[in-house]
Amino acid sequence: MELAENYRELDARYYMPAFSRTTEIVRGQGARLWDAEGREYIDCVAGIAVCSTGHCHPTVVEAICEQAHELIHCSNLFYVPHQAELAEKVVEISGLVGGKAFFSNSGAEANEGAIKLARLATGRKKFVAFTHSFHGRTMGSLAVTHKPAIREPFEPLEPACTFVEYGDLDALERAFDGDVAGVIVEAIQGESGVIPAPEGFLEGIRACCDRHGALMIVDEVQTGMGRTGKWFAFQHTQAQPDILTLAKGIASGFPMGALVARKGLEFKGGEHGSTFAGGPLACAAARATISVIEELLPSIPAKGARFADGLAAWNPRQVGLMIGFTVGERCAEVQQYCAEHGVIVNCAADGNIRLVPPLVITDEEIDAAVGVINEALGR
Ligand SMILES: Cc1ncc(COP(=O)(O)O)c(C=O)c1O
Repeated sequence: MELAENYRELDARYYMPAFSRTTEIVRGQGARLWDAEGREYIDCVAGIAVCSTGHCHPTVVEAICEQAHELIHCSNLFYVPHQAELAEKVVEISGLVGGKAFFSNSGAEANEGAIKLARLATGRKKFVAFTHSFHGRTMGSLAVTHKPAIREPFEPLEPACTFVEYGDLDALERAFDGDVAGVIVEAIQGESGVIPAPEGFLEGIRACCDRHGALMIVDEVQTGMGRTGKWFAFQHTQAQPDILTLAKGIASGFPMGALVARKGLEFKGGEHGSTFAGGPLACAAARATISVIEELLPSIPAKGARFADGLAAWNPRQVGLMIGFTVGERCAEVQQYCAEHGVIVNCAADGNIRLVPPLVITDEEIDAAVGVINEALGR
């Protein structure tokens, strides 16, 4: 694909400068990307944990094209092709027996839905979330997102939220006051640099929610869809959420989010909705994505371990293909060196490099990427 010659100039003039970017990516295949100058990269970021099946996986491309020829949109006024089958599959892989799904267009929107559902189900108003959490940038999801720099300019936010130190169950216990509808947690904090929950933390949250009649919402927008070697990261623990939220990898890059709620928790007539959510193209892309991930799932632990072994000198935190390590102030410099040497890595918060590659990445690509990252760090 050709970009306009003055692309950067057009962007600077007409697109709001909310992002800082330097590279024009024009093509992707598997775990490879190409920029407008024809340079090739091994992609260890996958559109931030989105392109789960790799770029332009033929099964996903075919499913989208086939559906596009049949019907692009019909609205939720009608039964939507692929929607019910996808809901069945998502509920099945979640393990929330008797549960139901509801689709959205993004992760933030999935969390908005979870917040609404928790309020409806409990009749309570407040939420508890954790330090360094990220749940999205819409007003409700932002209210439960910790990072002051992105939250404070938009205050006052609803719902009211108490932030408790991630991992501190005693502080969580003290945060309940009888009006807490839910606790929202990431099983592994992604935006803050891949910080896994301490052992027993999710089980502790479950017990706390049960004691206080609040709902446990696990945000698996980043950790879900096979990224950690299981369909969902909570499945590495003994805890089951009341509500699970998803997005990112669910449809390989086609915009989509979802929530799955346990048996008995559901939106009824008119309580929630969205024009585009759960449309035919998104559902077709997600069904194809799931069928591909089903095949890939057994290979994820070994691929993750290969990254961790290769990067052992930097003390990585790794669960499946979600890998982070702390490099401090050199983060941006490491990211740039890697890009200049054909490997895309991501500088997450607090000086942490994050790797969330496509699940299709090969051993050869892992070794090549690890080589460049080690070179960057060893300089
Ligand atoms: C854990 C988590 N929740 C929610 C979101 C928001 O998702 P979206 O950007 O699709 O709204 C993100 C995005 O990075 C995320 O990592």
